[in-house]
Amino acid sequence: MRRVRIALLGCGTVGGGFVRLLSRERDRLRERYGVDAEISQILVRNLSKERPGVPRELLTDSPLKALDGDCDVVVEVIGGTHSAGAYIRRALLSGRDVVTANKAHLAERGRELFDAAAERGLFIGFEASVCGAVPIIRMLQHALAGDSVESLIGIVNGTCNFILTRMEEGMEFDQALRSAQQCGLAEADPTLDIDGIDAEQKLRILAELAFAAPVRRVTTRGIRHVVLKRGSVLRLVAEAYRVPGGVELRVEPRELPPDHPLAAVRDEENAVIIRGRAMGEVMIRGKGAGSLPTASAVLSDVVEIARLRPPLGHAKAAADAAALLK
Ligand code: HSE
Repeated sequence: MRRVRIALLGCGTVGGGFVRLLSRERDRLRERYGVDAEISQILVRNLSKERPGVPRELLTDSPLKALDGDCDVVVEVIGGTHSAGAYIRRALLSGRDVVTANKAHLAERGRELFDAAAERGLFIGFEASVCGAVPIIRMLQHALAGDSVESLIGIVNGTCNFILTRMEEGMEFDQALRSAQQCGLAEADPTLDIDGIDAEQKLRILAELAFAAPVRRVTTRGIRHVVLKRGSVLRLVAEAYRVPGGVELRVEPRELPPDHPLAAVRDEENAVIIRGRAMGEVMIRGKGAGSLPTASAVLSDVVEIARLRPPLGHAKAAADAAALLK
């Protein structure tokens, strides 16, 4: 049995979903994968907030206590770039593998983090950072390794897709946005969603995996000012393709023909169509945002880390490295 002790940083939509999902799936993970995953600490800002189903004794508001405590893996689901970035770096410096859903930080500082992890033989799982439950990261990293990607096009923001689908049904923009927030889809600052920034961050991550080439040009437009024509299908489309010397990225609302595969993608669903030189087109689709769907991607990374690590050895190595930092 491989035991993994997890320091969970953040207990909001994704973190709370992760606690619930792990308690539901823990026995299956033991039996199916021989992985015993357990949360050892949960870092929160407000200790007195009600969190149904979250064991109170695991909560701490001390980042150092959470990060330097007895854990093998640090799961960062706080979001934002400032403290989250510092916590990820500290986790890597103290020899812990990291799982993060933080597309903003990865889009900005990903290369530096991956270099730091590689130097120490550590793993950064980031499946949850793009397209929620849809395993697009693994698909690009592993399943499609045998082909050269020529282009990718998709819907990578669940909030915008949810809003546009509601607007198709006659709802006003503001009401649809409120509804997306109530469903736990939107970012803490929803302007990141509606102005296309969240989609651009995700597209940067996908493009790096797909092309590993310099980004030459980026165009980003959101859905704040869209006007929907009756009967038309509008989607916030993210596209990356090769241009001389690198890749070009575009995020913009586009009217799609009703028979376009992305026109059928509704609500908080995401989908990505990848075109490869040998394989032609491959499409992947599923829930791109929300508590449990995103938590499922986080948990899959935790399981992957546990399966990479020798039983028992890693927790001790992490504790030794952490002791050196004190
Ligand atoms: N706000 C994001 C979205 C959450 O709506 O897609 C998932 O990354």
